[in-house]
Amino acid sequence: MIRSEGLNVVDIIAVYGSPRRNGNTASLLKQAVRGAREGGAEVAEFVLRDMKISPCLEIYACRKSGRCAIQDDFQELYERFLVCRGIMLASPMFFYSVSAHTKAMMDRCQSLWVKRYWLEKQPFGRPNSDRKGLFISVGATRGKRLFEGSLLTVRYFFDALDMVLWKSLLYRGLDFEGDVDRYPEYLEEAFQAGREMAGVLRGVGGPSPG
Ligand SMILES: Cc1cc2nc3c(=O)[nH]c(=O)nc-3n(C[C@H](O)[C@H](O)[C@H](O)COP(=O)(O)O)c2cc1C
Repeated sequence: MIRSEGLNVVDIIAVYGSPRRNGNTASLLKQAVRGAREGGAEVAEFVLRDMKISPCLEIYACRKSGRCAIQDDFQELYERFLVCRGIMLASPMFFYSVSAHTKAMMDRCQSLWVKRYWLEKQPFGRPNSDRKGLFISVGATRGKRLFEGSLLTVRYFFDALDMVLWKSLLYRGLDFEGDVDRYPEYLEEAFQAGREMAGVLRGVGGPSPG
């Protein structure tokens, strides 16, 4: 394990974005975490519904240092997002978007966008492809375009974090808690994605110096 400024730096941050602690996305993400650990990665898990994370207040205090001024539980995520190698993000589809918990966390990452593009003046659209994001989502319906809007949101969320969207696991037709348990093949796919992610991240260097 790498150490940076007193913080244990883990390879992968797993973010549970559903209000349900044991819902469908949580079950899938738990499998991905298990797979990543089996693949040799250090994984730290964060459950957004248990964290106090204010929405972005758009005061742009982050323009001074790249840090968000709101002192709440987002601060720990911020530190970890800077130094981790990968993020696994799981959110259900809520009105064709990510959950409010997930979106509040994402909007706070505007501080990282400001750091990257305004303060460090990095070129747009060239994220560090060594840093990888996995997105897991489910929805109750089966529409072809169910995940379209969220995929765009998630792609640019990872971009703000100097990361690429490496893989998405998207499942339709899951509504009630436990529905995903009827599809062991989905859980297996999540496990394998986690293991593969650990392998891919092991094969590359750490985050770009910044
Ligand atoms: C507020 C809310 C909005 C939802 N919006 C959608 C939607 O737009 N499309 C859809 O297919 N399912 C929608 N659903 C259903 C959830 O995506 C579905 O129940 C999912 O399995 C929940 O995942 P979880 O168990 O990980 O929380 C919505 C559910 C809630 C509570």
